[in-house]
Amino acid sequence: MSARPIKLAITGKGGVGKTTVSALLASMLQKSGRKVIAIDADPDANLLAALGHPKPDSIAPLVELKDLIEERTGAKPGTTGGFFKINPRVEDIPDRYAVTVNGIKVLVAGAVKHGGSGCYCPENAFVRALVTHMLLDKDAALVLDMEPGVEHLSRATVESVDQLLIVVEPGRLSVETAHRIQHCAEDIGLTHICAVGNKVQSDADRQFLQRELHHIELIGCIPYDERLRAADQAGKPLPGASIAADLAVAALVAALEKGEHTPAHTHSHGKSERHAH
Ligand SMILES: Nc1ncnc2c1ncn2[C@@H]1O[C@H](COP(=O)(O)OP(=O)(O)OP(=O)(O)O)[C@@H](O)[C@H]1O
Ligand SMILES: [Mg+2]
Repeated sequence: MSARPIKLAITGKGGVGKTTVSALLASMLQKSGRKVIAIDADPDANLLAALGHPKPDSIAPLVELKDLIEERTGAKPGTTGGFFKINPRVEDIPDRYAVTVNGIKVLVAGAVKHGGSGCYCPENAFVRALVTHMLLDKDAALVLDMEPGVEHLSRATVESVDQLLIVVEPGRLSVETAHRIQHCAEDIGLTHICAVGNKVQSDADRQFLQRELHHIELIGCIPYDERLRAADQAGKPLPGASIAADLAVAALVAALEKGEHTPAHTHSHGKSERHAH
């Protein structure tokens, strides 16, 4: 099996299971022999907990490390209008600040501001440089647990993402969000987009997703499993909590590895003929 460093950005509507899928994928990629870095880029960070960290709240998000950000960018976080480095030095950050949970290195980025002048602040420059750095790292697979939308993926970084993986659940709202994300992503030049169904309970669910996603390819489906919710509530690691979900994620990794999905950097508007597993 090739251990190509897969770079994945996970997005989707709120609550569809982005963090669950990120945790399961990160764990499966690690089991396949890869070095894995997961970045929690959601302000409501909970990827550490999903991977089984016993005290996720004890880890300060990087954007709150104001001295570090000032040292690297030359400007105090929270200040606007001043000059700062848009390409700060970050190569030592993963080793110094990543938290290792069950063999997976996790960087908790924290709340990055979006829109207007909020995009041009030292914190964002720092996190963006870090994500870019990790995307270019040939040795590590990357799983980026994002908040909805693609605002924090700059044009410079999207080139290196293998896939923007949109998590959808079998409902109209999450599919509509997927289409919005797709348009947004295509606007910034990201065309390698696919979807993974989550909380899927039947063939009818799967068919609904295949039909409604139109030309967003559905490359896998993760079943609904109460045990995932229970593990989440109990603060237990999600990988290993549901055999059915782990199997589905193994198939998802295999599909990503084989490149059965829409090839990167091509524009496909044809309706997919491939069927999800
Ligand atoms: N396959 C599944 N089966 C059962 N429950 C699931 C499944 N996937 C996710 N859940 C549950 O759904 C809820 C939301 O999941 P999760 O936190 O992963 O979503 P999210 O998209 O990351 O949410 P947010 O937008 O708040 O970051 C959690 O309670 C989780 O346990
Ligand atoms: Mg989440």
